[in-house]
Amino acid sequence: MRNACEERIESLLSQLTLDEKIGMIHGAGIFRTAGVPRLGIPSLVMSDGPMGVRAEFGDGEWVGAGHGADKVSYLPCNSAIASTWDRDLARSAGRVLGCEARGRGKDVILAPGINIKRSPLCGRNFEYMCEDPYLTGELAAQVVQGIQENDVAACPKHFACNSQETERLWVDTVVDERTLNEIYFPGFRAAVDAGAYTIMGAYNRLHGEHCCTSRALLDGVLRDQWGFDGAVISDWGGVHDTDAAAHSSLDVEMSVAANFDEYYMANPLKEKIGAGEIDETVIDAKVRNILRLMIRLNMLEPESRQRKRGAFDDPAHAAAARKVAAASIVLLKNEGNLLPLDEDRVKTVAVIGANAETEHSYGGGSAEIQALYEHTPLRGITMLLAGRAKVRYAPGYIALKRPERKRNWQAESIDRPREVIHSPKASETDRRAAIDEALAIAKDADAVIYVGGLDHRHDLEGQDRQSMRLPYGQGELIEALLAERPDTIMVMMGGSPVEMPWLGKAKALVWSYYAGMEGGTALADVLFGRVCPGGKLAETFPVTADDCYAHKLGEFGRKDTVTYRDGLLVGYRYYDTANVPVNFPFGYGLSYTRFDYENIAIGRADGGWTVRFDVVNAGERAGAEVAQMYIAPENRQDGEPVHALKGFARVTLEPGERKTVELALTRDHLAVWDSETHGWAVRPGGYGVQIGASSRDIRLTGRVEI
Ligand code: BGC
Repeated sequence: MRNACEERIESLLSQLTLDEKIGMIHGAGIFRTAGVPRLGIPSLVMSDGPMGVRAEFGDGEWVGAGHGADKVSYLPCNSAIASTWDRDLARSAGRVLGCEARGRGKDVILAPGINIKRSPLCGRNFEYMCEDPYLTGELAAQVVQGIQENDVAACPKHFACNSQETERLWVDTVVDERTLNEIYFPGFRAAVDAGAYTIMGAYNRLHGEHCCTSRALLDGVLRDQWGFDGAVISDWGGVHDTDAAAHSSLDVEMSVAANFDEYYMANPLKEKIGAGEIDETVIDAKVRNILRLMIRLNMLEPESRQRKRGAFDDPAHAAAARKVAAASIVLLKNEGNLLPLDEDRVKTVAVIGANAETEHSYGGGSAEIQALYEHTPLRGITMLLAGRAKVRYAPGYIALKRPERKRNWQAESIDRPREVIHSPKASETDRRAAIDEALAIAKDADAVIYVGGLDHRHDLEGQDRQSMRLPYGQGELIEALLAERPDTIMVMMGGSPVEMPWLGKAKALVWSYYAGMEGGTALADVLFGRVCPGGKLAETFPVTADDCYAHKLGEFGRKDTVTYRDGLLVGYRYYDTANVPVNFPFGYGLSYTRFDYENIAIGRADGGWTVRFDVVNAGERAGAEVAQMYIAPENRQDGEPVHALKGFARVTLEPGERKTVELALTRDHLAVWDSETHGWAVRPGGYGVQIGASSRDIRLTGRVEI
């Protein structure tokens, strides 16, 4: 029996003409479809992206509206959200994004980005969460639900295996079935199970088929296996063939060009239907999914009057962004407790490095936004010390400036690949002068803070990085600075790891992803101890990109076919299994206090187990610890990782406080994908249960047996 929603869909469908249906399934503006006003069906209005609602463009052109009314709250990027390891914070970020999207009149927000960080060099890593499918799924589910509380659809992207930007529209990706199911699908599966109303296909091909029109992926996996009944939206320009689009589970074709009637699912499709080559029922299936989405979002009359209204630039949103940002910052090194700095004692602070003053919100590709404001690190530090200390700034290195352009790069994005951006060749004299200026202010300052790393000329859609080396000659500057002031506090910002040949010389090191409008204030709070750092790396920081298994195999950044021969061995699954020395392991992060782990106890519960243990704050100040649970199968087979994350909890503890953490361990956590039966299977045998503070800092162990 059909429910009321499905009845309504059928009734509307029966009243729609072919032209009206066609209008609903493809872009009629660069970010919207056509509506059917006579039936109270509006356009479906979409917007990027993960870090905030994107600025307005003209309906048919990639030229910004050019007014300030579309400035919005700028949220920490997905990598930052992942390094909080905090489900509540992930949800709060989603809520803000959804509320602002609604406030800006959007129906679908093209977020979160949840591809797996397979290589440190993928240009869009900053938009993605991490290298681990379980953590991605746990947090993505929260972001999705947070967004959708606002009558706005989330659109997890890009399904699937969009883990490189090189030749992204055409590269063919070959991945074995087990790896797909254990590494590249779980994040999307979790988002679907969390109720995501839409999903975006990826540009790349998977086993020869373009993901946006792949029957294997969209029909076989997404609809049939996972039961997805939402709408599938193409990436912008990700469709290449009318028949493939019509016959796959794709519902909405979007692209970057303004010739909307020429889209594959526009006139060409209509002609094929007219000629009897394609059956009209294939369109009905798509329209059903779109109407279902609209009903879920309360978009159709008369419910539209009850639809949530949203709001943007609300001060509460900035406060939420600050909380997420502060929790995302990772303390990587703190020899001699150089940090936190004492805000009452420092009288002169030298802030060095162009990233102290760079605004990142406008860059990165489709994730760019017009931020209401963006507190840079320099501003954050200066505001925190307000009036009490002298803050001097020198860029120290010469970074590329914000590009000036009228038309957005996306207008041409599917016609030609991006040019690779190289660091500018600043003259030797200018470079030297910048270094000398920096050394001069560092010399006598009470505290020296270096803020460097990457920017969105490197963490960028449409282009992968060439190496993990720091751009703009920062290496030389850092060496000189650490020679002059070995107590320099190093702060690195970026969307994925960088080489740190100077690591042995640095005493204090802090990592911040692009942390949103309050990134600078949150960083200052951490540096001066108003916030105790509790973020943990959600990706391994290798020494160089060559250490990454995909790179070792020569299977990253290829233009024709990329074969994921690294299989399951992605991120720590490889580094920990092959014992590769790394700069910082997965799950790593220090605090201003310390935590002890005690008393592991594993009990049976509901066909699975409950793993209990105590975390004790053994230091002098309150702080948060992310306790992690890894499962290590005793009968591990070739190509399988030594262990994998299957649980975590972020706990906040007062000094001396003890809390018992309880993590559920289910049979599903032990299951592996069986490519012969095409399903999950639990192998009999023993499984080590490892509780730790990082993937390489296991504090307690236990065991379960099947
Ligand atoms: C990106 C998507 C984005 C879309 C719309 C594409 O280039 O890959 O992530 O949502 O453009 O801007």
